[in-house]
Amino acid sequence: PWIVPNKGRIGFSGTDAARWAPEARSPRPLPWIAVHRRLAEYRGVPGLERPEQLYARELDDVDALRAALGPDAGDYLLLPVHPWQWDETILPLFAPWIASGEIVPLPSDGDPRLPQQSIRSFFNTAHPERCTVKLPLSVLNTLVWRGLPVERTLAAPAVTAWLLGLRDADPYLRDECRVILLGEIASVTVDHPLYRELPEAPYQYKELLGAIWRQPLGPFLDGGERARTLAALLQTGSDGRALAAELIDRSGLLPGDWTARLFAATMPPLLHFLYRYGLVFSPHGENAIVVFDPSDVPVRLAVKDFVDDVNLSAQSLPELHALPAEVAEVLLRESPQGLCQFIHSGLFIGVFRYLAPLLEAQTGLPETEFWALLRAEVLRYQDRFPELGERFELFDLFRPRIDRLCLNRNRLLLDGYQDRPHRPHAARHGTVPNALVAVDVRLPGQRDRIVTPAP
Ligand SMILES: Nc1ncnc2c1ncn2[C@@H]1O[C@H](COP(=O)(O)OP(=O)(O)OP(=O)(O)O)[C@@H](O)[C@H]1O
Ligand SMILES: [Mg+2]
Repeated sequence: PWIVPNKGRIGFSGTDAARWAPEARSPRPLPWIAVHRRLAEYRGVPGLERPEQLYARELDDVDALRAALGPDAGDYLLLPVHPWQWDETILPLFAPWIASGEIVPLPSDGDPRLPQQSIRSFFNTAHPERCTVKLPLSVLNTLVWRGLPVERTLAAPAVTAWLLGLRDADPYLRDECRVILLGEIASVTVDHPLYRELPEAPYQYKELLGAIWRQPLGPFLDGGERARTLAALLQTGSDGRALAAELIDRSGLLPGDWTARLFAATMPPLLHFLYRYGLVFSPHGENAIVVFDPSDVPVRLAVKDFVDDVNLSAQSLPELHALPAEVAEVLLRESPQGLCQFIHSGLFIGVFRYLAPLLEAQTGLPETEFWALLRAEVLRYQDRFPELGERFELFDLFRPRIDRLCLNRNRLLLDGYQDRPHRPHAARHGTVPNALVAVDVRLPGQRDRIVTPAP
């Protein structure tokens, strides 16, 4: 198992979970606050350089929200805040600045917001064309406290502008994969004036307040397309039937053909970003979203979570030379194998490892064929771009054994529940066989390569 069960969302009471957990499925309005520009900074992608441009898109009536601020309204930035965060951390820890009137509680904008799978990002159900807001929520979920670190929040729009630029200049990503990148197009960052001066203070105290506005998925979808997070494919209904099995039935395809389409929709953009640009997303079940055509056949991929979860090659590549300084400073660097690890663990071990036996049990697709189809998709990409041959060696997805990522180890052995000055990294310990190589099945017409069984 990935993580000790029932030990997430630490800080949420039962009542909090009933109100604010995604499975409660209750859209609720979020309150807004105003923060004086002495404490807050705004950033936006081109076209949203000024906060007024963002507020004009995101709010029905920005002046109504600002009414409480009086003549100095222009000195303040506005942002939504999670009521739990306001009550638990902002009121107690920002009390001096609330008292001085530099942080001012405002009414809600009235739009109902639905928490998504990550608990702290909210979809606007009244205006689906408006942004998803990602908010700091000081609960410990999976590995980290879910704050918004200052440098990353400031840099989010710059990272987005750069990533969208890469995608838009690359015809393969843009026109063939038609990969959807949910841009983090604007942010407000509020640094805590005292904690920021204390290097050894636990990191969660440096990520308490702010907001990121992220493009919503709906407007990117073509008529009839539907989208589901990759994690949804692992769900089984109370009737015992897996969603994936239902989708396969609806598609009218054979299980193997549908699975091949799933890989053809999800793998090529991830492989292209890795091999061509030395860049990985963290394509786990919550960040990767599968887009389906009207027959529930997987057709393309949407990805989110950039400034937090995009990693670059530590080894310099010409494609990364034009990286803007602001982006270079904030994105983490990883060794080539470290980059592959995001695909291996986030996707193969975190999602496909569970999907394979589920499909075997419910649709009869043998697990060995599942992995052979995945391998075939990677090789298909490699055949398409032979000029990237050196990169296939550098970012070698076909190593016989891969690192074992074990989040339980962080909790039970390494970090426990202690405070730490820096965000922890997911623990690695030992290795597991790489199913891409370990499964010795040849598909019809598959070329004769890389089928050495793991030792
Ligand atoms: N199937 C899943 N796979 C991964 N994470 C999941 C899943 N379901 C829920 N989660 C939660 O989603 C979050 C994933 O972490 P991640 O850093 O990708 O997101 P985030 O930055 O908190 O928010 P967002 O993705 O909205 O930007 C964690 O809080 C994790 O517990
Ligand atoms: Mg995420």
